[in-house]
Amino acid sequence: MFISDLPDELKPPQRWFDFCHKRFLAAGDLKALYCMALKAKHIFEVGVGQGYSTVTVLEACKKTGGLLWSVDDDRSGKCEVAIRNVVRFGLKDYWFFRKANILDYELRRKYDLIYVDITANPEEWKKILPKLLSHLEDNGEVFVHAAKYDLPKMIEDVAGISYNFKHYDDHLNCTIRRS
Ligand SMILES: C[S@@+](CC[C@H](N)C(=O)[O-])C[C@H]1O[C@@H](n2cnc3c(N)ncnc32)[C@H](O)[C@@H]1O
Repeated sequence: MFISDLPDELKPPQRWFDFCHKRFLAAGDLKALYCMALKAKHIFEVGVGQGYSTVTVLEACKKTGGLLWSVDDDRSGKCEVAIRNVVRFGLKDYWFFRKANILDYELRRKYDLIYVDITANPEEWKKILPKLLSHLEDNGEVFVHAAKYDLPKMIEDVAGISYNFKHYDDHLNCTIRRS
């Protein structure tokens, strides 16, 4: 699904285009993320940074009544900017933010969509991916932004469940869902 195919009432507001225009890759991954978020009720995000993906998901939540839970340990020092952006766009009612490392964070529910945008080494991915996948609804989807590694190898440990990977652009964005 593309933003251009959406009915007018589901398209993101002009402020979102103006905001995301500043971010490299905005044309592709954030538009795809927005369309995925429209179909999800409960969404989890790892890696908030200054909030481009966060605002994107929250704009979709504002349309649908969905909710976003985000985690970032703020090693980037940019989370205050994200918080300001969320408030500035009137999106805070749909957002739960926790400053934490995903390796220490306890996920408490299952999600329809999980968005991951962090830099992690292979050993960390081997812990993070199974943890996230065990909190994915059966029909849910994980969207990993710019992963540098062969992620299918990292989830061989998830017992008894097989997953489909779709790498869909040159920037190593990929989606993961149950086979
Ligand atoms: C590339 S930025 C996220 C950008 C954001 N998705 C956007 O579109 O603006 C990556 C973020 O992940 C956070 N991060 C990195 N490793 C993390 C970890 N293990 N747990 C939680 N946050 C982490 C960093 O603090 C940083 O803010």
